[in-house]
Amino acid sequence: MNYQDVLNNIYAELSSKDLGGSVASYIPELQKVDSDGFGMYVSNIAGEDAFVGEYDHRFSIQSISKVLSLAMAFSIEGEQLWHRVGVEPSGNPFNSIVQLEYERGIPRNPFVNAGAIVVADVLVSHLNDPKIDYLDFVRKLSGNDHIVYNGDVASSEKDAGYLNAAVAHLLKSFDNLTNDVDEVLDFYFHLCSIEMSCKELSQTFLPFTENGIVFEYNGYQLTQSQVKRINALMLSCGFYDESGEFAFEVGLPGKSGVGGGIVAVHPQRYSIAVWSPRLNAKGNSAKGLKALEMFTTETGYSIF
Ligand code: DON
Repeated sequence: MNYQDVLNNIYAELSSKDLGGSVASYIPELQKVDSDGFGMYVSNIAGEDAFVGEYDHRFSIQSISKVLSLAMAFSIEGEQLWHRVGVEPSGNPFNSIVQLEYERGIPRNPFVNAGAIVVADVLVSHLNDPKIDYLDFVRKLSGNDHIVYNGDVASSEKDAGYLNAAVAHLLKSFDNLTNDVDEVLDFYFHLCSIEMSCKELSQTFLPFTENGIVFEYNGYQLTQSQVKRINALMLSCGFYDESGEFAFEVGLPGKSGVGGGIVAVHPQRYSIAVWSPRLNAKGNSAKGLKALEMFTTETGYSIF
């Protein structure tokens, strides 16, 4: 399979096409991005990478970081984690608060904001210096010491983050937030503000395609069984109320972020990242979704 030819075809067809959507504006700092940017990168486990467009341009990974924080918390806590967060699709937007009251403070899954805030709380409880230790984990997982937070994006989200603050306080009222609300939110906003390029993102997710003990750090392991579960959650919940559509069109575990990035993995074959900042009504990259649908259709490599 020549991935480079496939990416070239996708780029030729989509790069100048208007698929609608608009850049996220509820985090003011994210609006500064070039709305027409577009890049893709495939990391193949056989080592033959392929790339097109602005694959080296860094963007805010936002909710994609929730997969990495989940991986870290799951490797530390194991199955105990699932007492505080569920594993079911929510059928609701990423920032919805209504379900959380009905379900007595247990978020549906770790990828809706409420679930990711609980995961952030778990990490705050376990880590000596959450921001430093989390960044260290991400750098080791990706094999890249240059990955950083964007403090401007984190504080921009904090200034406008009333809904996440409400979610965190609601979690606290149900005793599902152990630490100080402001401390957990500050950590959550930082972990969302990590920047990566498509190249860095696909390389970071390559371990999620592997067998065996996938990753070891500081005495903790991310096992094959845990990666199976994280990938299952990406498939069923990675795109919120568009997760069914992503499975239907693309057929891979994946995760989106409001910075316009999407990462997806094919176990034992490849990881792929795409960036295009115009989002559809569900908060997922409009062109990114189309590009990934074309990729799995043209290669025939989805999990189905
Ligand atoms: O909490 C938020 O709203 C953002 N930091 C992350 C949301 C996000 O990326 C949703 N994904 N498409």
